[in-house]
Amino acid sequence: MIALDKLAWTTCSHVEADEAGALNEWLAAAPNATPAHGQVGCNIWLTDMANRAPRALKNDEIIDLGGKKVRWLDTPHVPHNWDAGLIYEETTGTLFSSDLFTQFGACPATTSGDIVDAAIATEKAVPFMPPTPLVAPTMRRLAALKPRTIALMHGPSFQGDGGAALGALAGYYESRPN
Ligand SMILES: [Fe+2]
Ligand SMILES: [Fe+2]
Repeated sequence: MIALDKLAWTTCSHVEADEAGALNEWLAAAPNATPAHGQVGCNIWLTDMANRAPRALKNDEIIDLGGKKVRWLDTPHVPHNWDAGLIYEETTGTLFSSDLFTQFGACPATTSGDIVDAAIATEKAVPFMPPTPLVAPTMRRLAALKPRTIALMHGPSFQGDGGAALGALAGYYESRPN
C-alpha cells in the first residue's frame, strides 16, 4: 500500500481501455504522479490524452523507486499495439507481462504450475498477437531476463522459471501459421 500523494509514476503497456482507461482518474487522485511511457506512446497518444505532461522513457531505462528498480522495455506490437512496452522490476525479478499469457476463467492469485498451455489456447481462441517477425525475438529477449515472477494481467502471477515459460511461448509463436 502507498499513500496516493506519494505515488510518483503511472504507466501501462499500451493504449487500451483496460490498460489506460482510468489514466486521468489516477492522475486526479495522485497529484504528484507523472504518467510515463515509451517515446512512441508519448508521441501517439499519451501527450494528448493525459491531463498532466508525460515523461518519455527510453528502451531499457531504469527508474529507481527507492528499493525497487523498474526497467522500461520497448516491445512494439507485443502483445499488441505500436506503443507497447513492458516493465521489469529488477530486485524481485518480476516481469509485468500485460496480456502475455492471458487465460480465461477463474484462477488462483498465484501459481507455480504451467501457464503456457492456457496461453496458447487463448491465442488460438482469440488471436491477439499480430503476425509480425518482432514477436519471437521480443519474447526471447524477455526470456533472457529470467524473471522469477511473471505478473499476468489476465491470470495468476506465475512463480518459477519465467525464462522457460517465455521461451516456450516464443516457440509457439515461431511455429504459428500466419
Ligand atoms: Fe491489450
Ligand atoms: Fe489486457
